[in-house]
Amino acid sequence: MTATASPTPSFDEDYRNMLRTLSEGSVHVHFDPYEDIDWDAPNMAIDPEDPRWILPADFDPLGATAWYQSLPIDQQIELGQWRILNIIKVGAAFESALIRGLMHYAMELPNGSPEFRYCLHEMTEECNHIQMFQELVNRSGVDVPGTRLHFRLMLPFLGLLGGFQPVVLMIGILGGEEPIDHYQKIAIRSMELPPALHRVMEIHIAEEARHISFAVAFLKMRLPHANRFQRFHLSLAFPIAMRWLAGEIMTPPRSLAKRFGIPKEVYREAFWSSPKSREILASYFGDMRALAEETGLMNPVSRRLWKRLGIAGEASRYRGEPERTAEVYVEETTSAHTDAAAASRAA
Ligand SMILES: [Fe+2]
Ligand SMILES: [Fe+2]
Repeated sequence: MTATASPTPSFDEDYRNMLRTLSEGSVHVHFDPYEDIDWDAPNMAIDPEDPRWILPADFDPLGATAWYQSLPIDQQIELGQWRILNIIKVGAAFESALIRGLMHYAMELPNGSPEFRYCLHEMTEECNHIQMFQELVNRSGVDVPGTRLHFRLMLPFLGLLGGFQPVVLMIGILGGEEPIDHYQKIAIRSMELPPALHRVMEIHIAEEARHISFAVAFLKMRLPHANRFQRFHLSLAFPIAMRWLAGEIMTPPRSLAKRFGIPKEVYREAFWSSPKSREILASYFGDMRALAEETGLMNPVSRRLWKRLGIAGEASRYRGEPERTAEVYVEETTSAHTDAAAASRAA
């Protein structure tokens, strides 16, 4: 689509410096999935009865349901473990598509491009993340399915197409990385996690900070060079990508619902029809709303679309600002709002 053709600016000194800093960060602060995680340490063993797998009520949409909270503790643990490991497995699949797209983009760059080196560092890190995620799943012994079938079939093509449309690719990267990063940050900040999961999340958060910085800078560099027609189309593509990818990554496959006998209405409530689940969904994108505002992608039409998609809200005042707004655009119902929010984590 013409609207998404990548406007190619000449890179300014700030952008070159940022790429240099990110690349040096990748050299000096990086993690190897086998060297930096002591998988065989006794405390890293994954215990299927560990109550720290119970889903939190305040930021997991399934954990927030009264149905989940009424399950016996052993079932909460088992379902929690499946849900969290499934998100991890989906994250690995998403990162494989990201690598496809980014590799395509990087290999088209001219000699001397300052982006080349950093793109390769990022892909190296993503390969490590995929290994790390898979190792965690393997060690758990839980045979999680990962992505829903339609998304699994689409992923190789998304990577391929993204290579031709780098601005859209970067928007897609943010659409996948932001919900995962947000979920992991809030989990690490607010709850005690099984040690292996904690270590994996800690490493991932540290390296994703660079990836997200790069994608944001990439867009800030290019969007001012887009013409009005391109910018308008991108302003619509942006929230659609955010909503779609958040849904693909955070919604478990139906097979998981079947396995655990999750009633249809509970599945619907959690993904994403209840006010609480919509509040959680919207909370993933405070930084992205700020980016859209800053880059001129928030206009009256796109603002309506953000709202329509259920991901509107206040923009973050600074990167990674914890959710501060209670104002979430829930169109129909508000009555059930406090049900799940008030419930504490049943650990
Ligand atoms: Fe990653
Ligand atoms: Fe990443």
